[in-house]
Amino acid sequence: MRTQVAIVGAGPSGLLLSQILAKHGVESVIVENRSREYVEARVRAGVLEHGAVDVLAEYGVGDRLHAEGLRHDGVYLQWPGQRRRIDFVQSCGHSVWVYGQTEITKDLINARLADAQQVFWEACDTAILGADTDRPTVTFVDRDGNPASIEADYVAGCDGFHGVSRPTIPEALRSVHQRLYPYAWLGILAEVAPSTDELIYALHPDGFAMHSMRSEKISRLYLQVAPDDDIANWSDDRIWDGLSTRLALDGWTLHSGPTLEKSITPMRSFVSSPMRWGRLLLAGDASHIVPPTGAKGLNLAIADVKRLGAALVRSIKEGSDDLLDRYSDDALERVWQSTYFSWWMTSMLHTPPVEDPDRNFLLQMQVTQLRHVTSSAAAAAGLSENYTGSVLPYP
Ligand code: FAD
Ligand code: PHB
Repeated sequence: MRTQVAIVGAGPSGLLLSQILAKHGVESVIVENRSREYVEARVRAGVLEHGAVDVLAEYGVGDRLHAEGLRHDGVYLQWPGQRRRIDFVQSCGHSVWVYGQTEITKDLINARLADAQQVFWEACDTAILGADTDRPTVTFVDRDGNPASIEADYVAGCDGFHGVSRPTIPEALRSVHQRLYPYAWLGILAEVAPSTDELIYALHPDGFAMHSMRSEKISRLYLQVAPDDDIANWSDDRIWDGLSTRLALDGWTLHSGPTLEKSITPMRSFVSSPMRWGRLLLAGDASHIVPPTGAKGLNLAIADVKRLGAALVRSIKEGSDDLLDRYSDDALERVWQSTYFSWWMTSMLHTPPVEDPDRNFLLQMQVTQLRHVTSSAAAAAGLSENYTGSVLPYP
């Protein structure tokens, strides 16, 4: 097979890139190692920056988001005895949207299939060959067991943190910055109306807790747990007890309900650069990971592929590589800003492990930081412009 851009991975990065390229008349083929059902059901992100919403709308996948998504103009930050609101609109003039990654993925898959674009689901043994030549090729075994290969002008590595794209770049050419956090997030999706109108991020001596949502009937909640904890240790009762304790506030009640999904996610900051090697371009989690506290991962993926799409269209349609040559440096500016903000939010809100000798001091610093950010207009503006993504313009 031959195409203009071979895309590895049908997560938000790969699907949106294919959508952007198609709208500019550039053909692509996606190779994904999971089934369509699996990809559509993977519960993950929920918060979209206003710039990410604009990109999705610009490329024809904003209708359901605007109809069913929830616009949030602020957020609550909490510590024991206090829940204070930061007003994004007042602080920086922008909002965010709450709309599940599962729904974005479904919208993008439907749009791709409506355009009769080719997606190979359940491919295995994916490999990228000749990325440093003029004829890069993606090889794989299709779901019927037939070996296949796609020759392309460019290969986009959109296959997430555990994919094959990043390791295709010789190790000697990659620089990695990373931090593993001494905690993880236990997340649940629950069939119960949210007990709050906006997200609550809470610091508590037992650990961080968060109340998010997906719709008027579905809530999404998270608890800080140890990185080596096992989901089998967490019955629904234990989870709801933990959430009620950590989110408690006089006069407010957390409503519980049946859990639809629960899982534990490790937390890390990770940036691998550069995001290009020859004709292989990385985007999204394939190149960088942030801890979820800043709600940045999906938004970074969208910003990357907006930039990458424009660069590929320019090279393929106009024969100029200027944007491609700048892609990695330009994309990394936003990556580092979001990495910084996600690390900052994570450090402010997660309880240090009990064995940390500085724990009491650090907890006091965290409460002081929360007081400052919720009482100083300048500090609230800093948080708001980072959270809503207006700190840097979208490409
Ligand atoms: P992925 O979604 O990982 O997609 C990669 C795709 O490549 C997958 O479909 C995978 O199956 C496929 N693949 C992997 N290996 C291969 C291979 N060898 N061959 C072919 N295909 C392959 N971000 C936010 O912005 N806001 C949030 O609120 C937020 N909350 C989060 C909460 C949690 C609990 C988690 C885990 C993440 C959260 N994120 C959030 C992060 C966000 O989900 C990710 O950043 C986003 O999914 C990245 O998209 P991607 O397409 O780059 O990678
Ligand atoms: C979510 O709704 O899943 C969500 C919201 C905010 C975050 C992380 C996850 O920071």
